[in-house]
Amino acid sequence: MKTNFDFLLFGATGDLALRKLFPSLYEAFLNDLLHEDFKILATGRSKLSLEEFKQKLNDKSKIHLKDTTKWNDFLEKISYESVDINNLEDFKKLKNNLRDGKDTIIYFSISPEFFITCCKNLSELNMNKDNVRIVLEKPLGMSLNECRAINESVAKYYKEEQIYRIDHYLGKSMVKELFEFRKQNPHFNALLNKDYVKSINLYVLERLGVESRGEFYDSCGALRDMLQNHMLQMLALFMIDINSTNIRKAKLEFFNSLEKIDFKNVIKAQYEANEDSLSYLDELNVAKDSRTETFVSIKTSSNQENYKGVLIKLATGKRMAENKVYFDIDFKNGGKMYIEIQPKPKIKFLLKIAEEFKEFEIGICDIEKMPPYERLLLNVINKDLSSFNEKDELESAWKWVQDVIDNDDFTMHKYKAYTNEIIFKD
Ligand code: BG6
Repeated sequence: MKTNFDFLLFGATGDLALRKLFPSLYEAFLNDLLHEDFKILATGRSKLSLEEFKQKLNDKSKIHLKDTTKWNDFLEKISYESVDINNLEDFKKLKNNLRDGKDTIIYFSISPEFFITCCKNLSELNMNKDNVRIVLEKPLGMSLNECRAINESVAKYYKEEQIYRIDHYLGKSMVKELFEFRKQNPHFNALLNKDYVKSINLYVLERLGVESRGEFYDSCGALRDMLQNHMLQMLALFMIDINSTNIRKAKLEFFNSLEKIDFKNVIKAQYEANEDSLSYLDELNVAKDSRTETFVSIKTSSNQENYKGVLIKLATGKRMAENKVYFDIDFKNGGKMYIEIQPKPKIKFLLKIAEEFKEFEIGICDIEKMPPYERLLLNVINKDLSSFNEKDELESAWKWVQDVIDNDDFTMHKYKAYTNEIIFKD
């Protein structure tokens, strides 16, 4: 049975909402995956009439859709209120627009500095009862302390099982397969351990630079933007025990099993100009003397019994030669396993046959049946927390990288934009 719900969205005029959230909700509606009676209450700081807001949706959200046949019906589901998050009176207007007895999903597509005030005002009006779920967008703070502070404050108003902390990578089908594929093939999984595996390398490469996000990115950097969250989540899904029944708990244990980072195993770098690219330091809203990395790599290992001594390498960067997210697993006999998460999901093996290494490939390009945000929103509607970060798990991932964040004494290496050499630097 489909759950009937009200969807209350803070930050409805922001980029994420217009580019991802509305198109995802529309797709789910188009495919008849939502209860026929659901409603969306969009809110933003801007004082817009409903017509003006719908015009924004037509300009900024509709363009991302292939099939717009039910677009006008979808717009009928939406209302808009301008809200000052510091003003309790504005929250009263919202409350009056929500229906009693229905599930309420509150999505915070706003900067984390507003989370607490927003939660407080919502709870003043009893909008934190058991029928309410809240969705928090990343970044959840910029450090372990900030993440803890947010978690502790939110916990004053909402129970842990009401809180959905989003990491959109966990909505990608191929990311789910990092665990599922192993679980479905336990005989194959039996080969993935310290007896056979020499190293596990995870690369997240993007051609994209910082685009119009210079100000945000310069206060964040690759370590916090990608490695602390998306990459550690993928690594955990690939390395936790396939018999784990509580995935979130298993990920927490995995993060706790990572060896403390040795600074000499960390490389930070910034891109330099190349044809068609400015250097990072010349990007809009980036400080000319910035020490923020656009590339980071970390070598580590886990003291989990089955992987003790196996080298783990994580590397991610902007303005790399290609857009690619993949695992390279090196076996001790020289063989390899390659798992491409995106853009073309596939698994490849290099196996030794008659003294030679031969490659064979399993293409699974059709695996991505649903965009990540659509899948995750459906999970929230259906009260499935398994693809969302639990508090302790997230804090443990922050804890692991915090020393590196705090360490100012590092060399900032350089790499030419649209090249990959830096990923092989030792
Ligand atoms: C976001 C980061 O979380 O993930 C961006 O803030 C990054 O900097 C993006 O570009 C990558 O996501 P995807 O799904 O395009 O690989």
